[in-house]
Amino acid sequence: MIDRKPIRKAVFPVAGLGTRFLPATKAIPKELLPVVDRPLIQYAVDEAREAGIEQMVFVTGRGKTALVEHFDIAYELETTLSERGKDLAILEPTRFTPGDLITVRQQVPLGLGHAIWCARAIVGDEPFAILLPDELMVGKPGCLAQMVEAYEQVGGNLISVLEVPREEVSSYGVIEPGLTDGTLTEVRGLVEKPPVDKAPSNKIISGRYILQPEVMRTLESQGRGAGGEIQLTDAMARMIGQQPFHAVTFAGKRYDCGSKIGFIEATLALALERDDIGPDVRRMAKRLVEE
Ligand code: UTP
Repeated sequence: MIDRKPIRKAVFPVAGLGTRFLPATKAIPKELLPVVDRPLIQYAVDEAREAGIEQMVFVTGRGKTALVEHFDIAYELETTLSERGKDLAILEPTRFTPGDLITVRQQVPLGLGHAIWCARAIVGDEPFAILLPDELMVGKPGCLAQMVEAYEQVGGNLISVLEVPREEVSSYGVIEPGLTDGTLTEVRGLVEKPPVDKAPSNKIISGRYILQPEVMRTLESQGRGAGGEIQLTDAMARMIGQQPFHAVTFAGKRYDCGSKIGFIEATLALALERDDIGPDVRRMAKRLVEE
């Protein structure tokens, strides 16, 4: 195994407006919407912790402070729970060691690429991970842990991909694949939201990245792309050929919780898997469908 700079930092872009979930997201960040009983952001933070990430950087915007509150100590709640003899273990995973949660502000949501660029001073000169919390990745090990393992083999830049039916590619970033070796595929090109007949493959980028710090300099000069936004995909595409670039096919399940259907699918799927409520949810879902 080659000695690589370890991945210690992760950026969570959470400054988007979440317009697909209005009016729910008018006052509540999309990333705090719960799937069963945990907000989306917590699934992503837990996944990052499992992958060995030490410092988490939230790129936030106005109205997003509750995201940080979620990871703070809740004295009143803890005191009340203790007085009632309730177990506090349920709150433990939300805690951060002081200094390990950093926020930077994206004043105007100019796109994912711009959001990542906002974290440049914290990322500094290290490779780093990116997790989009509205994409819920369920796997053992988790998606980022699988990517860190691949990174230890090949280094460079990595994106997580999954295969979708061809007719769906135009909603996503798509890779132009090179050689494939197991779960690793060389990336020769990237296109954001291509028309179906122009898509170079059906492998879509799925919300997890390990990138070299040079992407920040590339983003600096990145103009607006698809949808008038500064696209991370465009900046990554410009790095191909200059640095190693691979895709890791995620062994697990991905739910696009940025869309209503994906969110409902995630809620049902995770609820069905739970020991405490799974059997009741199954009966309830069956009854609803048969009615
Ligand atoms: P989305 O494309 O899902 O956009 O962003 P959105 O604004 O959250 O949601 P819709 O499309 O309006 O419903 C993917 C991720 O990138 C972040 C979002 O918070 C989300 O986690 N993002 C997007 C930013 O942080 N800043 C931006 O300018 C755009």
